Amino acid sequence: MGMLKTGAYNPLPVVPIVLVGANVNGKPNYAAVGFVNGVNYRPAVMYVGLSKNHHTTRGILENGSFSINVPSADFVVETDYCGLVSGKSVDKSAMFNTFYGELGSAPMIAEFPITCECRYTGQQVEFEMDTVYFGEVVQVYVNEAVAGENGRLDTLKANPLLFAGLENRYRALGADMGAAWQVGKQYQPKASAVTSCTLVERPPQPALSIRSRVEPAGLPAAIGECAAAIYQYALQKGRAPTGALFVAYHGLDGSLLDVEIGLPFGDGVEGNGRIIASPLPGGQWVRCLHVGPYDHLPQARVALEQWLKANGRAAAGPSYECYLNDPRVTAPEKLETEIFIPLA
Ligand SMILES: Cc1cc2nc3c(=O)[nH]c(=O)nc-3n(C[C@H](O)[C@H](O)[C@H](O)COP(=O)(O)O)c2cc1C
Repeated sequence: MGMLKTGAYNPLPVVPIVLVGANVNGKPNYAAVGFVNGVNYRPAVMYVGLSKNHHTTRGILENGSFSINVPSADFVVETDYCGLVSGKSVDKSAMFNTFYGELGSAPMIAEFPITCECRYTGQQVEFEMDTVYFGEVVQVYVNEAVAGENGRLDTLKANPLLFAGLENRYRALGADMGAAWQVGKQYQPKASAVTSCTLVERPPQPALSIRSRVEPAGLPAAIGECAAAIYQYALQKGRAPTGALFVAYHGLDGSLLDVEIGLPFGDGVEGNGRIIASPLPGGQWVRCLHVGPYDHLPQARVALEQWLKANGRAAAGPSYECYLNDPRVTAPEKLETEIFIPLA
């Protein structure tokens, strides 16, 4: 419920942005790259997704090596510049203090918090626009200024620059959210609670509703669409609902749910077209309140069925579910649903 279809693209909101370094014609060159990550733990293998036309790509293939340099947020301007201009037309070799490691051919940036030299494995995967190149990590270098215990990187001190591709912005790290492989131990399955079933007397309640047959999977969308149509219609008539959105379950028609989706209004409300004036009947009802995700609602339905059996009563009509909060802004475990069954 509440999820928008927005197209097919890379959905990762934030990735590290790096400068991939390679020697081209004996000179260091650096390109900004967001398509970068590790693919194997041991040996450590990284991939970079690069356009074949980049100057850097030429260097990787020429030397069989490249570097991955992680900038701190202080280097946002330099990093973006390396993504704006190509070494084919601008010499980027003097932008940083370059050093070389064990391979001797992968240029690395001394002022960045962490960098590594990779031996190109010769493996590549070609896609329509970019080619993915794999490199085995030969050595990782951590800047002493941001080294924590055991020479490991202190991430907060390193303050790595992040690329929020979906909003096309650079960002920096936020809050500490807990220890990896640890914090998950606190997980508790979402619980839901059903209050005890009670007998209630209800007066008839005028309502506007739309009756339709829907696939079970399409019910949330149908509820949203029908509620919007009734709201819109009522607004035109200068009327406002007097209670919560409800769905009456009339049963199954083959594999389709036969449902009535509606909103209660005061007296004198009239329907039009598929929107009909159909009051919630008065009389005796059995009621319970469910607190929790909607997919746990069957628990509440079972509790009501058991109540009917235990009290020798029968349903006189469809059961009604009233949704007391907005699932777009309420956590699933806090959703409140009242369920009513009219009694014969
Ligand atoms: C934020 C950002 C991310 C980028 N990510 C990539 C990438 O993942 N792959 C790629 O081929 N180019 C990427 N680019 C574009 C290259 O960095 C850019 O074309 C650069 O000029 C290439 O330099 P070169 O020709 O000197 O190698 C990115 C640019 C920016 C600004």
